[in-house]
Amino acid sequence: MNILMCAPKFFDVAYEINPWMHTDNPVNKQLAETQWQQLFATYKDKLGWNVSLIEPVDGLPDMVFTANGALVHGKKVVLPTFRQPDRQPETAKFEEWFKSQGYTELYNPKYDFEGEGDALFWNDILFAGFPWRSDKPSHNEIADFLGVKTIGLQLIDPRFYHLDTALTIVNDTTVAIYPKAFSEDSIKAIKSVVPNVIEATDEDAVAYGLNSASDGKRIVIPEGATNLQEKYRALGLEVFPVPISEFQKSGGGVKCLTLFL
Ligand code: ARG
Repeated sequence: MNILMCAPKFFDVAYEINPWMHTDNPVNKQLAETQWQQLFATYKDKLGWNVSLIEPVDGLPDMVFTANGALVHGKKVVLPTFRQPDRQPETAKFEEWFKSQGYTELYNPKYDFEGEGDALFWNDILFAGFPWRSDKPSHNEIADFLGVKTIGLQLIDPRFYHLDTALTIVNDTTVAIYPKAFSEDSIKAIKSVVPNVIEATDEDAVAYGLNSASDGKRIVIPEGATNLQEKYRALGLEVFPVPISEFQKSGGGVKCLTLFL
């Protein structure tokens, strides 16, 4: 697995753009650094994933959440069009990084679209979330550019505002969801294509358990999501729980800190 991360050098809750963020609930910077290092080491040393890094930028506290920095498919890169002005300057930084790595097919969506945070590949289908942070019409733009089939999924709970906070791609046959975060039609759409759909409890969802990163055999998951961890073990997956408390103060977790390249 090749992934992109960004060290939390300038990470903070400096504004409020989702229900988890409260500027009066300060980040413990030291602990954030420790938690991020643990996630980084889990990927690199325990799983042997290839981790690339993008330089953090002062004044862009949410740049740690690289999942929002792009959606990558082969050599093609969809850059983010962030809804909130606070995050819009990140796009140029990610664009610069991809260009420096030799990517030439880059696309800037006309409609709001927050990268892999709202778009996850399951086999050759792209599940794409809306409406909190990405616009539904962005799905057509992206489908055209990448030449893939998308299934739009409507998110209905503002706490689960990005698709990757409510849905985990576990492996070729399995996806985990927090059902209460989706419209009924969207749950039907997921179940019509995915053979095995795991339903997470409220407890797992609030612990950000759906915000996990899997390579199909091993899964890195926020430590508080203990029911999901048991379900994954029962499926034969190797489970790597990690602490994410400081990033959850910003509405982020394991997956948000990770972009699949
Ligand atoms: N504070 C960030 C925001 O609201 C958190 C981003 C979480 N990223 C994700 N992929 N869910 O934009």
